[in-house]
Amino acid sequence: MRVSTIPGPKNRFPGEIFLQVQKDPLKFFTRQHKTYPDIYRWTTGSQQVWVVSEPGLVRQLLTGKPSEFQKGRALQRSRLLLGNGLLTAEGEEHMAHRRMMQPAFRKECIQDYGIVMVEESDALVRSWAKRGVGEVDIHREMMELTFTIISRTMLGISLEQERHEISQALEQALESFQLTLLPFFDLLRRLPFPAVRRFEEAKDKLHAIVDRLVQDAEAKPPEERGILSFLDGVSDQLKSDQLLTILLAGHETTANALTFAVHLLSRHPQSVRKLQEELDSALGQRQPRADDYRRLTYTRWVVEETLRLYPPAWMVGRSNLKALDWDGYEIPERSLILAPQWILHRDNRYFSEPLEFRPQRWADIPKNEPAYFPFGGGARICIGEGFARMEAVLALATMFQKLEFEPIEVAEPELSAGITLRPKHGLKVRVVPRP
Ligand code: HEM
Repeated sequence: MRVSTIPGPKNRFPGEIFLQVQKDPLKFFTRQHKTYPDIYRWTTGSQQVWVVSEPGLVRQLLTGKPSEFQKGRALQRSRLLLGNGLLTAEGEEHMAHRRMMQPAFRKECIQDYGIVMVEESDALVRSWAKRGVGEVDIHREMMELTFTIISRTMLGISLEQERHEISQALEQALESFQLTLLPFFDLLRRLPFPAVRRFEEAKDKLHAIVDRLVQDAEAKPPEERGILSFLDGVSDQLKSDQLLTILLAGHETTANALTFAVHLLSRHPQSVRKLQEELDSALGQRQPRADDYRRLTYTRWVVEETLRLYPPAWMVGRSNLKALDWDGYEIPERSLILAPQWILHRDNRYFSEPLEFRPQRWADIPKNEPAYFPFGGGARICIGEGFARMEAVLALATMFQKLEFEPIEVAEPELSAGITLRPKHGLKVRVVPRP
């Protein structure tokens, strides 16, 4: 198909679409989807950007050969922050990283991590009771919870001291991260702009902390080195990059999912009743365990429904290394191809009454529903998928066994759609004991 006949928005002045995407990406993609339901494109500078929101095309994108696709611009740029770990490596190197890290995500390991997941969720519930809290910023609390879980499961220590430093540096780096997406960032980087300096400072701080953690771990016997024990024989630089990748990729996304789950449940008391009925009948008074996961069907549906409505990874992107011909659409090489979970998960062609929170719908949704891909797909599917699902189910089960949450704000939370989808200004709820 000739490029000029392919549907898509047009820039009325150079950079107009780029600015619209930067300003409010969710609004931009939602608006375009109404006009162009399956595929569209525009041009930014010399690059074509394609958006696919038809499940078949998304599958082609995610399961395409690694030799044909690379990560999109945002993830390539996140190399600046994460170095060359599993999330950012490409091709053969990526496969080697994946093989190296896979043992830490085996089913038996996740069963063991379940103990830590419940212990930490329970400690949080008890600390709320002890502090006599009412109102909390549940996003902040969930970030702390998932950070402690990821550091204990992956490193064997809870990193309480470092938690604050890491989260501050991460916030600072993410604030300026949008800058790195600018086409001329490489030039900008050499200039003394305050935002660039803040990004560099935050990055250096994160790396200094992680380098120290790697050194500390090296001094321990192998069985106490956590995931670093799978990285024997690789350079210290690579150990640091992998550890930072796992610490960051492994806590914010799940914290966002838990935050949105609490938010949705706080507004759907009927679903809380069903959830608690399930917890009572499956667990009675005892704490949940990893081997309850299969039986906690409704709890799992709550998690899936949350990931559908508020996918923490709200869009995946790839750059194609070869020209493609998809259904007659000729996509030139090195285009940026985007597949937004945010759009497909909310499309009424694939989910009835898509904006409604209805965990029950998961009784009828097939296991590999192609319009639902919160963890991506293909060779680069999230390595932490099983970990995250287990963590979300066990944390929700532990919290809702004893507690409920009431909404404080009437309005829907304002969202920030950067690298991840999260509430823009935290999310306040009231914690109340279960009646
Ligand atoms: C609800 C929670 C989570 C969501 C929604 C999520 C989502 C995703 C998605 C969509 C990707 C693929 C990105 C792409 O194709 O460009 C991904 C990759 C990845 N995730 Fe997750 N993730 C979650 C939790 C975790 C956890 C708990 C960990 C680690 C413990 C983790 C570690 C990673 C890593 C290392 C990759 C890169 C994998 C590779 O390229 O081989 N994620 N995640």
